Amino acid sequence: MTPILDEARAFIEQCYQELNKSESDMMLRLQQIEDELKTEGTYTHTREELVHGAKMAWRNSNRCIGRLFWNSLNVFDARDASTEDEVFGALERHLDYASNNGRIRPTITIFRPSQRHQPDIRIWNHQLIRYAGYVEDGQYIGDPHSIAFTKKCEGFGWKGQGTHFDVLPFVVQIGDGPPQWKEIDLNLRLEVSLRHPEFDWFQDLGLKWYGVPIISDMELKIGGISYKAAPFNGWYMETEIGARNLADENRYNLLPKVASCMGLDMSRMATLWKDKALIELNIAVLHSFKEDGVSIVDHHTAAQQFRLFEENEKSADRDVTGDWTWLIPPVSPATTHIFHKEYDNTWNTTNYFYQDRPY
Ligand code: ARG
Repeated sequence: MTPILDEARAFIEQCYQELNKSESDMMLRLQQIEDELKTEGTYTHTREELVHGAKMAWRNSNRCIGRLFWNSLNVFDARDASTEDEVFGALERHLDYASNNGRIRPTITIFRPSQRHQPDIRIWNHQLIRYAGYVEDGQYIGDPHSIAFTKKCEGFGWKGQGTHFDVLPFVVQIGDGPPQWKEIDLNLRLEVSLRHPEFDWFQDLGLKWYGVPIISDMELKIGGISYKAAPFNGWYMETEIGARNLADENRYNLLPKVASCMGLDMSRMATLWKDKALIELNIAVLHSFKEDGVSIVDHHTAAQQFRLFEENEKSADRDVTGDWTWLIPPVSPATTHIFHKEYDNTWNTTNYFYQDRPY
């Protein structure tokens, strides 16, 4: 028995049971898959299997605190896209549908799986919307996380404006062909300028962030089948932006600036100036997204939603797996129930995985 058959079997059994399919439907399908594997070396998911598989993969994502909503994932089946232009078109539709003028919809677009006789489709972007990063004589501009990818884009002939918030283009590669890039339409870029409910000076910092985090470099595996291009999104939790992207020393590193604008005593660590600046930065993110009608969740609410998810899974007689080090929020972790529990970090195989960068 091939390992792919093992994984297919485990997936189909669970999937069909969850979808309340009959035993005979399931047996029939398993036989079909076994035959297809024998002749083709692969098998093709039905639309139903694809949709439910993508949802199961979210439900199995140990590092995600937002899993309560796994069953409301919107799935676009883009397995018929075969040219770069068709892929760009599907990515644009994804951006438009997921952004939804701010009422963000959890969405995934699934391109064709890896198989013999067909070149892989790969998206080079880490996220569909992401800011470029440059380093010029030791000075960073933009997002340091994007430096390597930005260099690649420049190599293809793309040129940014050189601001801290240049949106990178889509980059798509099919097989060993030359990667193609496309600038992202201005109308498809949902962004929020950051301001603070009390500090008037805050908006003069000129900060902003994009609204929809669409991870585009992970591999989706469903029942042994590998989808290397399957960009997916939820909405942000404020700490991702306020406590990491804008605060980490190797990212935008803004705590010193915010603290000094706040007039804090930065002469000693022990004044907790970093902590005070961090909270205000997070407040600004929540306030701005809320005011602009762009979906976002605070970490306390997210933790409560995760507790509900845990309860739901218990009722459904499923074990919740989780990675504690990722599930706890980076701000005030011990105020959430997650901090005070242990989680089993076993990885179910229908899941989203890191994969090698194509560049
Ligand atoms: N942490 C990543 C970022 O800050 C996004 C990861 C996915 N986040 C999410 N809320 N779905 O860009």
